[in-house]
Amino acid sequence: MVTHDPYTRPPQSAFTITVLGGTGFVGRHLVHRLTAHGHRVNVLTRNREAHREMLVDPSVEVFTADPYDPETLARFLDRSEVAINLVGILNEKEHDGSGFQRAHVELTKLLADTARKTGVRRFLQMSALGADIESRSHYQRTKAEAEKYLLKECADELDVTVFRPSLIFGPGENFVTRFACLLRMAPGILPLACAETRFAPVYVMDVVEAFARSLYNPHTFGKVYELCGPDVYTLADLVRYVRRHAGIRRGILPLPQAVAKLQATVMEYLPGKPFSLDNFHSMQKDNVCHGNNGLLELGIRPTGMDAYVPFQLGSRPLPRVSYSRYRRDRRDVL
Ligand SMILES: NC(=O)c1ccc[n+]([C@@H]2O[C@H](COP(=O)([O-])OP(=O)(O)OC[C@H]3O[C@@H](n4cnc5c(N)ncnc54)[C@H](OP(=O)(O)O)[C@@H]3O)[C@@H](O)[C@H]2O)c1
Repeated sequence: MVTHDPYTRPPQSAFTITVLGGTGFVGRHLVHRLTAHGHRVNVLTRNREAHREMLVDPSVEVFTADPYDPETLARFLDRSEVAINLVGILNEKEHDGSGFQRAHVELTKLLADTARKTGVRRFLQMSALGADIESRSHYQRTKAEAEKYLLKECADELDVTVFRPSLIFGPGENFVTRFACLLRMAPGILPLACAETRFAPVYVMDVVEAFARSLYNPHTFGKVYELCGPDVYTLADLVRYVRRHAGIRRGILPLPQAVAKLQATVMEYLPGKPFSLDNFHSMQKDNVCHGNNGLLELGIRPTGMDAYVPFQLGSRPLPRVSYSRYRRDRRDVL
């Protein structure tokens, strides 16, 4: 839960902020948080029509734009004081890392270079726990490469803050809902790859609060903040947690590493890549904070999954429960 708010004073003058990736799960929460504090936000998307509901907020402008076009970026950054980059992909269409390179590295460089040219100094970058230039995972390697460019090459001209969250939960996420769905579809037992990998799930509201608090705070310039929730779970624990709160009766079968890798190799070629070799490689390392938890450094008390997930899963009760609830509700109405 967010406790106190030493850094987020009402802005003297509201910023105009350009956000890439503002239509996604984290982006929507962040945009809402920023406009609630008086900032004007320009969200660039590849498809505005798909996100029309965001226009309800008069402080948000959503534009269809090619984020890889330098002139387009310059046009928006020219009238902004802050750039925020949330773009991230967990899977690429390709199989050689070029999709990750483009979305994570090339786009970050382009945005940073355009910010430098247009005089935008403040730059907030979403990375991820596990970002590592040596990683076999393209996701983690390219996230680290983007960080390095910002923090090393742009240090003189940009005030950069990087955030590295663990797995994020909250309204609109798809981890919990995906595993609830997989459990329901499993014939009796759900085979689980990388079951012992550890995560510290972090609440999306805490993540966006970290962004918001760092906006004004010069102590955050040039820093990398790891963001973790209060509890550490193995993947198997997390799936058991989902199973318990969704009321699903299925077994969970942790797969040996060799079988998990084989599963990833096969699923890499299924439509939608439900699991990929890159996912497998990124899950070879625990996804937990190694240094300080950035949330605490920013004065935010991390929220545990218990505050949200049971409620989220309870919204889809088992059929028998819904019948009795329906009868009870009808009694109240009649
Ligand atoms: N969710 C998590 O658990 C988690 C954990 C750690 C780190 N992160 C990082 O947090 C960031 C936001 O995650 P999220 O869960 O909110 O992601 P998301 O819901 O998938 O949203 C991704 C956003 O990026 C844009 N985008 C996707 N592919 C793109 C591409 N190839 N080129 C340009 N833009 C592209 C999309 O914009 P349009 O489609 O509108 O153009 C969308 O707004 C990412 O950088 C992710 O790596 C997330």
